[in-house]
Amino acid sequence: MRTNQPRTVYLSEYRVPAFLVDHVDLRFELFEEGARVHSTLAVRRNPEFPGRADALELDGDRLHLEAVRLDGESLTAAAYDDQGDKLVVPGVPDRFALDVVTWIEPQNNTRLEGLYKSSGMFCTQCEAEGFRSITFFPDRPDVMARFRTRIEADKSAYPILLSNGNDVDRGDLDNGRHYVTWEDPFPKPCYLFALVAGDLVEKNDRFTTCSGRDIDLRIYVEPRNASKCDHALDSLKRSMRWDEEVYGREYDLDIFMIVAVDDFNMGAMENKGLNIFNSSCVLASPDTATDLAFQRIEAIVAHEYFHNWSGNRVTCRDWFQLSLKEGFTVFRDAEFSADMGSATVKRIEDATLLRTSQFAEDAGPMAHPVRPASYMEISNFYTLTIYEKGAEVVRMIHTLLGPELFRKGSDLYFDRHDGQAVTTDDFVTAMEDASGRDLRQFRLWYEQAGTPVVTVRDEYEASTQTYRLTLAQSIPDTPGQSGKQPQHLPFTLGLLDALGESLPLRLSADESDAPTERVLELTESEHRFEFHGIAERPVPSLLRGFSAPVRVVYPWTRDQLMFLISGDSDGFNRWDAGQRLAVDIIQELIEKPEADIDSRLLTAYRNLLADTEPDQALVAKMLQLPSEAYLIELSAQPDVQAIHRARTRVLEYLATALRSELLNCYRRNTDNGPYQLSPQAIARRSLRNTALAWLLHINDHEACELALAQYREASNMTDGLGAMKALVNSEFAEEREQVLVDFYQRWQQDPQVVEQWFSVQAASVQAGSLERVRALMTHPAFDLRNPNKVRSVIGVYAGQNLSEFHRPDGAGYRFLAEQVCQLDDLNPQIAARLVMPLTRWRKFAASHGQAMKQALEQVREKTGLSRDVYEVVHKSLVGE
Ligand code: TRP
Ligand code: ZN
Repeated sequence: MRTNQPRTVYLSEYRVPAFLVDHVDLRFELFEEGARVHSTLAVRRNPEFPGRADALELDGDRLHLEAVRLDGESLTAAAYDDQGDKLVVPGVPDRFALDVVTWIEPQNNTRLEGLYKSSGMFCTQCEAEGFRSITFFPDRPDVMARFRTRIEADKSAYPILLSNGNDVDRGDLDNGRHYVTWEDPFPKPCYLFALVAGDLVEKNDRFTTCSGRDIDLRIYVEPRNASKCDHALDSLKRSMRWDEEVYGREYDLDIFMIVAVDDFNMGAMENKGLNIFNSSCVLASPDTATDLAFQRIEAIVAHEYFHNWSGNRVTCRDWFQLSLKEGFTVFRDAEFSADMGSATVKRIEDATLLRTSQFAEDAGPMAHPVRPASYMEISNFYTLTIYEKGAEVVRMIHTLLGPELFRKGSDLYFDRHDGQAVTTDDFVTAMEDASGRDLRQFRLWYEQAGTPVVTVRDEYEASTQTYRLTLAQSIPDTPGQSGKQPQHLPFTLGLLDALGESLPLRLSADESDAPTERVLELTESEHRFEFHGIAERPVPSLLRGFSAPVRVVYPWTRDQLMFLISGDSDGFNRWDAGQRLAVDIIQELIEKPEADIDSRLLTAYRNLLADTEPDQALVAKMLQLPSEAYLIELSAQPDVQAIHRARTRVLEYLATALRSELLNCYRRNTDNGPYQLSPQAIARRSLRNTALAWLLHINDHEACELALAQYREASNMTDGLGAMKALVNSEFAEEREQVLVDFYQRWQQDPQVVEQWFSVQAASVQAGSLERVRALMTHPAFDLRNPNKVRSVIGVYAGQNLSEFHRPDGAGYRFLAEQVCQLDDLNPQIAARLVMPLTRWRKFAASHGQAMKQALEQVREKTGLSRDVYEVVHKSLVGE
């Protein structure tokens, strides 16, 4: 066991910085055997710091310190203290220039934070605390400085040299080297610093802002990817226009650059003027990227662009405020995506992610509030709670205030705090000040972890034509938090009569012109609402549009759900009713595996396939059965094999009974026109591939032929991959191997496509056994140093192939523990994410839970465990 456990950082310990840095002058000498970083800081005392600090303290991580100078005078080693993770310089004056020279080895950096190399190019990732592994610096977001960066490198190997801002100088040096100098006029925290050096091609475009300024847009990629930039450039222009129109936010530099790199821990990074992207989140062409990838790229390009205001111009005071920028920016990108495509489908996708994965996080050992109060390693807090629940919290403010007051609030927030590092509380205050609303109780959403449960009871009184709805909320205990207070939540409601008409919601008997939809505001732990003039018992349509991130408990009858599936005017709730019906039926089969399957489900699906529904994008979503992960989340003590069997049985039952409807659906949605990305075209491909997958689930020979033909003739990756996926999940062993071999042969030069090929196999029950996954890891295209490969094989196996991962002999758990230990030495951030599936061991029956726990203990025993993995493993084994 480790003796010196990592320090916990507390929000309550926040102090303003003792010193500020006004300006940073950086000079990078890049070589194959390392890099020398010269830094000059213009430092002064912070007038707001209480008292007088004697020493300047700078953060550092794995740096070789070569020299320190104060106001030009070299300091001897006795004049400073290099503690490894800190450089302490005592007795400094009120204002001074500090030069620091460090030597680092980017070529050996497998952690992918700080400066590192990816496919031959130099690049950086500084959020959250990566800058300290480049040079000594006050690495905290409330220290904002102007940066000037000179990069020197070999001219033929690294013709392109990039950093934030504008290029102000360039020239040649001796020995075939050259330099470029960049200057960023906007003060920024060091986590937004970026540098790129490589042999890249530039794809150009232009954008004229609302005030008429002409912006130079550039995407830099390796030459082989030059044809895969159009979609990202188009997405960028749409994002820039949208942020002007919806938030009044104009871009502020003359250049906006995006760089694609293959080795990246996350999706992308919003460095000022120089966004760096994981290749898989920016590169696309119809023949190599699926519809899902196209949509993801559009959303991530928008997300990073929107950070220019929500994150960069107004940034976070400290990392406890992370959701200030991430929650708000996810809300902004979700609204953008809703405007670009189908708003209902986007809402369904976001609610699915929240209910499947964020609710699980909130119920597990790593549960934390949207504004955490403590952490050991901040990289572990880039979570679904910070991002997705944080976005839901902003959405609720939007719902409570309405769009006009919300816009007033965001204008005030950006104006008031431009150039500052602020808190989530400042954000809420701006919303309060602009709207006049009191959000004091609402702030509990930022402070209390856990998913609220809203229990709904109703009664109808015919004699007075009154419908009474009682909403009760409770919030479960989470690690370190119990006895929670009720939260302020918007609960959107409709009431339907027997014909499916929405009834006027009269809160008093004499109210005229009552709306047919209301946002009820819940503030107490229990609240009763009375609706008058209701002529018959209505069917309630609860929490429309998923108006709050809560679990709703209500004793729906299956007939009520059938009614809502076809009759609700709220598309989200139609989908939700379908999910609830399917969940109810699958849960019944888990209890009684031999029970008959309720034919209402068949009726519902037959209606969906009848092609009478105008919104085919919604139909495509409604056809998807609840995932195994969601069924596991809903179960108090899940039996994964039983869940898998019950869900598979329902799928087989539906596919068998609806064979001819599915074949019709397949044929009807076959089109060979040019590739389009409209919601309708995406829905057609989704319907066709769902129909194919279902038919192959029952090993239908005709469907097998259709899949082979579709695979051969596909003109886009959605159809090609859809056909392969359907075959890989079928029992047609020969065909599936043949297609897998062919696919790899054809696409082996394209890493993004090879990642898809890995994922399909790792997720397949037929092809994805543990032996197969181990074999994939010995494939020449697999590389444990590349996070995308790790995610597409190990991550998909443990996170999506659940009945295999949870095999009763525990081999899946031991395999994961082994891989986490391997990865911990290479890339702790990725290792800490990979270990997550094991942390839920308490939820499972002892037969599985004990084996999961043992796997965690195996990880805990590893010598030299990183702080990242330690925190996750420690918190999930607390008390053991
Ligand atoms: N700020 C980035 C985003 O959400 C997140 C990010 C990118 C990140 N790379 C990272 C976070 C590395 C931690 C570590 O857009
Ligand atoms: Zn972000």
